[in-house]
Amino acid sequence: MAIPVIDMKNIDGADRDAIMAKIAKGCETPGFFQLINHGIDHGLLDRVKVVCAEQYKINREQQFKDSLPVRALNKAIAAEAEGNEVDKIQNMDWEDVFQVHEMCDTNSWPTEPKDFRETIEEFRSQIFALTEKLLEIISLNLGLEKGYVKEAFAGGDKPFFGTKVSHYPPCPRPDLIKGIRPHTDAGGLILLYQDDEVPGLQVLDNGRWIDVQPLRYSIVVNTGDQLEAVSNGKYKSAWHRILPTKNGNRLSVASFYNPSYKAVVSAAPELINLNIADDLSSYPKYLFADYMRVYSEQKYEEKEPRFQAMRKPTEQISY
Ligand SMILES: [Fe+2]
Repeated sequence: MAIPVIDMKNIDGADRDAIMAKIAKGCETPGFFQLINHGIDHGLLDRVKVVCAEQYKINREQQFKDSLPVRALNKAIAAEAEGNEVDKIQNMDWEDVFQVHEMCDTNSWPTEPKDFRETIEEFRSQIFALTEKLLEIISLNLGLEKGYVKEAFAGGDKPFFGTKVSHYPPCPRPDLIKGIRPHTDAGGLILLYQDDEVPGLQVLDNGRWIDVQPLRYSIVVNTGDQLEAVSNGKYKSAWHRILPTKNGNRLSVASFYNPSYKAVVSAAPELINLNIADDLSSYPKYLFADYMRVYSEQKYEEKEPRFQAMRKPTEQISY
């Protein structure tokens, strides 16, 4: 079982309708798909892989070796060697992560590798353009104006566009810890450039975990909680997780196009059933900053209570 692979070649030509239909289907189920011929330069993708691997070696590896998850796992392995029964580690992830958008905002780029900044900035700009192109397709697929989702996320300002670079180093005991625990993503649309050799990412599809198969030069796309809200539940954000592996240092570069913190998110009026008075089956209206406050505390829990928490009387909503 694998997630759909969609060829974007001719998206602006004769195959447009067929490709849009595949994207609509991928957004509905399983909420994950991968794109090929997406227009992002393959040479650039190769360079991203190289600078991220160098950055990990130079600036991150030692820190990871000293990190809490590594210490917790080593402790569990030692306890087991002494004959004790050990529990799985539940509250940590076997992951090294750094946020590139914070480097942009604070101009705190690493000095080595020297072409890191230039490569990542070019990558982010191409990913941003591809994301906006997809959001236009998604808006049209939902029967909305082409710019609807982009404008909804901008909230009169501009969207939040972040990039997170993660490594999942070789793990001696993948049975005792997760790479990332199961969760859905908080934001809008997520574009992931993942390792083309080391597997690990899985998505929940009809109650079964299926692999997001490594595929060279592909870009993985998934929908987050905010697209679920805007689409009034048509595009449900999918649960996913990463399993660590014994061999290989898995790379994952995830870029997320989210609403501005000031944006007020709600289901698109065209997608609400107006025949039902005060339709409680529709998604609530809330400030994205409020959602993120709840998400940061409940990321690994069921998502419905997060939306429920946003269902407050109008006078209590902080916008
Ligand atoms: Fe995620």
